[in-house]
Amino acid sequence: MARPSWDDEMRMAAISTLDSLHWVKGPQGKAFGAEFAAYCQAVQGTPCQSGSVALWGALRLLDIGPGDEVLVPSLTYIATATCVSLVGATPVFVDVEPDHWCVDLASVEAARTPNTRAVIGVHLFGQMCDDALVAWCADHGIAYIEDAAQAHGAVAASGIPAGGVGDVACFSFFPSKNLAVGGEGGMMMTRRSDLAARMDALVNHGRDARLESHELGSNLRMSEVTAAIGRVQLKRLDDWLVRRRGIAARYEQAFSPLSGIRPPLVRPNTEHAWHQYCVLADDPEGLRQALDAQGIDSRVYYATPCHRQQVYASHPQHHQTLPVTDAIAHRLVAIPLFHEMTDGEVQRVIEAMTVALSS
Ligand SMILES: Cc1ncc(COP(=O)(O)O)c(C=O)c1O
Repeated sequence: MARPSWDDEMRMAAISTLDSLHWVKGPQGKAFGAEFAAYCQAVQGTPCQSGSVALWGALRLLDIGPGDEVLVPSLTYIATATCVSLVGATPVFVDVEPDHWCVDLASVEAARTPNTRAVIGVHLFGQMCDDALVAWCADHGIAYIEDAAQAHGAVAASGIPAGGVGDVACFSFFPSKNLAVGGEGGMMMTRRSDLAARMDALVNHGRDARLESHELGSNLRMSEVTAAIGRVQLKRLDDWLVRRRGIAARYEQAFSPLSGIRPPLVRPNTEHAWHQYCVLADDPEGLRQALDAQGIDSRVYYATPCHRQQVYASHPQHHQTLPVTDAIAHRLVAIPLFHEMTDGEVQRVIEAMTVALSS
């Protein structure tokens, strides 16, 4: 499903960072944060150990805790919801749009209470949430957190990239992501200068330059080697996005005439980052078996939506129906799309899909 990129410049960046013996708290992490923030048109990026930790940090930065409610889509990776529970607040699950599969504004509006403190907009599969969500949050004095774990390089209709839109944005550098770091990694990003200094402190026990702790934090820092690799990957990101978009365009052309699936729709005037290419399948199991028989891997995202996961067995919404989420979650089949794919591999996937859907 994915193959991370690894080249001589990344190898040299890793080795020279190790040779420097400056393995933590050094110039690489600082530079990676600054460079990625500039790319996202944000004020500051703070590298950390994972996307999950970045989400936890975002909520802490916004002082969200017990008694607070945070609106989250249920159709997402579980970390989007569990970060809310981990700070003692309550995740309130909302539905997604039938066309673009991101947080649905009407569902958000219906779920709002006086305790709603934030919305986490997940740029699902690399597609940015609707800009209207940003405006809605601003109008209601509710914080907007971008879960941009899957959306490095996506661009909203406003022209602002993922990471530069929300109060705080969170990225993951897990190896399958559009940008990776040779291990686990994540980044918190903010466009708010009032949050920047605290963001850096949070990953370092809430300490200031004099090692005085001002708030609860922990050691969530990214190591220098991974930051050095991430900096090289960042230089390649735009080229990789061109490749991802090219493959998606080929898929779109090849799959549009096929019946039994609906290819993904791109929100008008936005740039999709194509972390995943998911089709909405009438018979997901049949499609997956037919692909498997031809040696093509696939996944279903996310077969069990968050509110139906066992960790939320006692959540008041565990048995509640979220109409769109429940109707599509088990039908979204991801097929291989990654920037390292060769033209031959792309063609093999197209042929396998054509065979699978013609039988
Ligand atoms: C939407 C979403 N949010 C959060 C995360 C968590 O990132 P990480 O695996 O780096 O903790 C992921 C990663 O898979 C994700 O896809």
